[in-house]
Amino acid sequence: MTISSRAAVHRGGSSLEITQIEVAAPGPGTALVRLGASGVCGSDRHVLDGEWEMPSPTVMGHEGAGVVEAIGEGVEDVAVGDHVVLSWFYPCRRCTACLSGRAFVCTGSRSEECLLPDGSTPLSENGTPVYPYLAVGSMSEYTVVPESAAVKIPSDVPFEVASLLGCSVSTGVGAVVNDAMVAPGRSAVVVGTGGVGLSIIMGLNLVGAHPIIAVDLSEEKLAIARRFGATHSVISGPDSQEQIRSITGGGADYAFEAIGRKDTIESLPGLLVRGGTAVLVGLPPADQTINFDGLALAEGGIRIVGSNYGSTVPGRDFPRLAALYLAGKLPVDELISDRIRLDQVNEAFEAMRRGERARSVIVF
Ligand code: APR
Ligand code: ZN
Repeated sequence: MTISSRAAVHRGGSSLEITQIEVAAPGPGTALVRLGASGVCGSDRHVLDGEWEMPSPTVMGHEGAGVVEAIGEGVEDVAVGDHVVLSWFYPCRRCTACLSGRAFVCTGSRSEECLLPDGSTPLSENGTPVYPYLAVGSMSEYTVVPESAAVKIPSDVPFEVASLLGCSVSTGVGAVVNDAMVAPGRSAVVVGTGGVGLSIIMGLNLVGAHPIIAVDLSEEKLAIARRFGATHSVISGPDSQEQIRSITGGGADYAFEAIGRKDTIESLPGLLVRGGTAVLVGLPPADQTINFDGLALAEGGIRIVGSNYGSTVPGRDFPRLAALYLAGKLPVDELISDRIRLDQVNEAFEAMRRGERARSVIVF
């Protein structure tokens, strides 16, 4: 039996159509989830703006949380009524990476193809397949995900907050904690303070980095960054490198890029002290080549670290992040600048393109 669901569908072009789709009953190993909230993330925008190829038509949204409504055969990790955070990179649980506890580099996941493990899609429109973005498709009242993509968290975490644990918070905090492993008292720069950059700042604050320097084009974003624990803020421009070198006394220990722009990624080594680490969190358009000065990297002992999804192991990290939020250690509520309806999603992308809003969250 299928159910009807209102969803935001991408058919090419830079805006989404709000329409009814059909969601199949959950098959073996999958769960039907009724969404409570979905964040509007920079990665969704990459697709709308034609920077990444995806199967089409696509139900957008990959940063979601909701309640399990039904489970398929053999599902053991979640039960009907559980509140879950969705993962946009579901682990296959069988490959060498998964078996080594490194689910974030799983080689068996079909998330990036927007398919369930058996190669099917649970969504359709008048009998034609529709693809859930990254096998999540959270901009829909209902979706079906693999069991390993739905992680139970305490029901006292609001859905808006839980949705952000599923991407921006896990990506940002994970970049600091899992990838860079920043120690207390080390200095850090964050270039780009949207939802992901602010989450990096949250992580830096959590581990006691100091100083924490936020860089953005927008004064509004920098004011928010200071509320999140940035000790200094710098407007992005020709003299930002000099300002950062002066604040840190010669360069930062860590520099994070959270935009996905060629020029800002290439600027990272210049912000670092010898032995410093550049962490690439922002995702550039496909086929973009990034240039670094090889001699400067080698001589300076600079490390370049690629960080995807904060190297999140969903079953380990989502409950930890939820516990930190409930303990008052992650100000995720303050990341939510706008609570919107599904039919306001195009306005949210427009605002994002103008560099406005920390995070818009669709509330169902
Ligand atoms: N210099 C400094 N800041 C900039 C610049 C620039 N040249 N251009 C844009 N920004 C700022 C914007 O003002 C905004 O605050 O970068 C921020 C980007 O934030 P969002 O658009 O909200 O994107 P976000 O969801 O945070 O994602 C950022 O991380 O995971 C990836 O795919 C995601 O590549 C995207 C990146
Ligand atoms: Zn995202």
